[in-house]
Amino acid sequence: MPALPATPIASGDSPAQGGRGSRYPRAAPAGENNAGAANVYAGVDTDAAAIAVRGVSKEFRHGRRRLRALDGVNLAVGRGEVFGLLGANGAGKTTLVKVLLGLARPTSGEVRVRGRDPRRAAARRRIGYLPEGHRFPGYLTGKASLRLFGRLAGVAEGTLDQRIPELLELVGLAGRGGDRVGRYSKGMTQRLGLACALVDEPDILFLDEPTDGVDPVGRRQIRDILLATRRHGTTIFINSHLLSEVERTCDHVAILHQGRVVREGTVEDLTLPTMRYRVRLGEGQAATAERLTGEGLNVVASNGSLEVEVADLAALNRLVDRLRADHLLIAEVSPLRAALEDVFIEVVEGEERAAAVSDPGPRTPDPGGGR
Ligand SMILES: Nc1ncnc2c1ncn2[C@@H]1O[C@H](COP(=O)(O)OP(=O)(O)OP(=O)(O)O)[C@@H](O)[C@H]1O
Ligand SMILES: [Mg+2]
Repeated sequence: MPALPATPIASGDSPAQGGRGSRYPRAAPAGENNAGAANVYAGVDTDAAAIAVRGVSKEFRHGRRRLRALDGVNLAVGRGEVFGLLGANGAGKTTLVKVLLGLARPTSGEVRVRGRDPRRAAARRRIGYLPEGHRFPGYLTGKASLRLFGRLAGVAEGTLDQRIPELLELVGLAGRGGDRVGRYSKGMTQRLGLACALVDEPDILFLDEPTDGVDPVGRRQIRDILLATRRHGTTIFINSHLLSEVERTCDHVAILHQGRVVREGTVEDLTLPTMRYRVRLGEGQAATAERLTGEGLNVVASNGSLEVEVADLAALNRLVDRLRADHLLIAEVSPLRAALEDVFIEVVEGEERAAAVSDPGPRTPDPGGGR
C-alpha cells in the first residue's frame, strides 16, 4: 500500500492547528480545511500516527440530491492519544468513524489506520468498535455475546474463558452475564457493547457515543475504564456530544460542523483562560459586587466569591487595591477557563452566523456537480 505523500511541514501556530502541546499539525481553521489537504496534513507521518485522515469527503445520495456528510476533513491522531470528535446531530461523526473502519468508502480523500488502508480486513485486526445504537440478539446472554464477538475477532477459547468474566466485572455486569441481553436496560446494553469492543484487547478503540443512556455512576466507570485502557497504550477515538465527558477524558478534540473540522486542538488549548477571574475573600469578609463594578470591571457575586470580568490586568489589580484599601483579606485570585461547552457553542454559532452572512448555498451540491 503506497504511503501518503510527504509534504512540507506547516507552521501549526494557530490554535486551530494544535498550538502548544500538539504532537501533530492539526486540521486547518474553518474555510482553509477544505481548500486543499497539502499543507494542513503536512508533516504527519502517516505510518507513525494511529489515525490519519486527509481531505476526506463523503457524499450520500438522498433521492435526486446529494448530501455532503464529510467535507474535506483532515485529522491526525497520535498513538496512545484519546481523541474526541465533537459535533451536533448530523455533523458527520458516525460517517467519519465508518470511513475509518473501512465500513464506508470516502467519495474522495484518504485514510490510514496504523499506516494501512482500513478497507483491507487484515488492517482491522485489534481494532475495537462500539457502534452507535448497537443491538445484540436478545436471546443471547451477555457472556454468549462476548464469546461470539471474541470468536469473530479470533480470540482463543481458553483466553475467552478467562477474559469474559474479567470484562463483565470491568464494566459492572459481573452478576448479570448469564441474563439474556433482551432483558438488559439501555445502559447495561451499552456496557456490554464496551466489553465486546474490548474483547480483542484492541490497540485502537472507536467509541460512538459510549455513554449514551448510561447513568452518572456508569459514565464515571466508563471514563475510568477508558483511562485504564489508555494506560495500556490503546488509542481511543470517541464520538460524543457530551462535552463535559469529553473534556474530562480526551487529550485532543476536533469540532465537526456540517462535515467540516472547524476547530481542533488540545482541550487545554481550546479552553484557554479568559479575562474572567474568581476572587475569594477570607473567612467572614464581604464586599458588594455593585460597589466594585466600573472602571473596566464587571463584578458579580457567585457562591460566596466574586467573579470578575476585567478589561486588562491593570483593572484586576485596581480591584485588588480597592479590596485592600477596605482592609479586606484576599484568599484567592484565580483565572477562570472557558468550559468546552462554551467553546463548542461559540464555534458552532459563529459558523452558522458566518454561513448566514455569506449564504454559500445548500450543503447538498447540485446533482451532477463534482462527479
Ligand atoms: N447511509 C446514509 N445514507 C444517506 N445519508 C446518510 C447516511 N449516513 C449518514 N447520512 C447523513 O449524513 C449526515 C451525517 O450523519 P452522521 O450519522 O454521520 O451524523 P452524526 O454526527 O453521527 O450525528 P449524531 O450525533 O446524530 O449521531 C446526516 O445528514 C445523515 O442524514
Ligand atoms: Mg452519530
